[in-house]
Amino acid sequence: MREIDANKEAWALLARDHYEHFRTRLASEHSLLNDIITDALGNLEGKRLIHLQCNTGADTISLARLGAHVTGVDLVPENIRYAKMLAAELGVKNARFITSDIMTLSETHHEKYDIVFTSEGAIGWLPDLNRWGHTIRKLLKDDGFMYVFDSHPFQLAFDEAKMAGDLLQVRYPYFGRDPDEDSKIGGYASETKEGTNYFWMYTVGSIINALVGAGLQIAYFNEYDVLFCPLPGMEAAGRGLWRWEHYEGKLPFTFGLKATVRK
Ligand SMILES: C[S@@+](CC[C@H](N)C(=O)[O-])C[C@H]1O[C@@H](n2cnc3c(N)ncnc32)[C@H](O)[C@@H]1O
Repeated sequence: MREIDANKEAWALLARDHYEHFRTRLASEHSLLNDIITDALGNLEGKRLIHLQCNTGADTISLARLGAHVTGVDLVPENIRYAKMLAAELGVKNARFITSDIMTLSETHHEKYDIVFTSEGAIGWLPDLNRWGHTIRKLLKDDGFMYVFDSHPFQLAFDEAKMAGDLLQVRYPYFGRDPDEDSKIGGYASETKEGTNYFWMYTVGSIINALVGAGLQIAYFNEYDVLFCPLPGMEAAGRGLWRWEHYEGKLPFTFGLKATVRK
């Protein structure tokens, strides 16, 4: 698919910078996961966990350090190469990495997991959420659960540059079907780079329906007024999370959804 090929090339531009950024952080921080995620995942000791869209493996390594036997999956071979280097350099033995498009993962990977996890800038890179839901179902053991922590679809509709100044202007249609094409990528763990990329908007309903339609049941859908990376003007809101003061308690910036297999 043309858009996935473009995204693959664009994300590859950031791989080395991300590896260097996260290597520095992981040298001094045991886990880079924020507290919302850590609490939602619970005790990971001995759990088989698959981390979808793992980038260069920083969160995958954090999950491994918390005791899980982790498999990280990402579209971009460079990301996986750096993820393997990072794990080896940090002496993390219970993490392995696979290069795959999530959209085709279930055709080649047939293992089952206690936990399927994905987070922080993941869903919008996928062109087909129904396929995402079915892939997650196939990866889960019957008594397993999935957890996703990501940008809230409502706030994604607004022009991010104007939100810093307390001005809400819809830029990306909440109900949009075609992906947004952007010429720039990155900026949260690297400089922003020139690279055409495509991002899909999903409604809250479409996320829930994709999982329910695949045979999962929703345990909860929680909403938060904090974001996982700082946009201009945001202040730290506690470990790994950020907020604009003027939207505190007023707008949802992220959500956490947990689902189990429907009996
Ligand atoms: C914002 S990053 C996610 C970072 C993540 N929070 C982490 O653990 O580091 C988005 C990731 O999705 C990956 N990606 C994009 N499209 C994908 C696809 N179709 N299949 C698998 N991974 C994909 C990109 O390569 C990139 O590493």
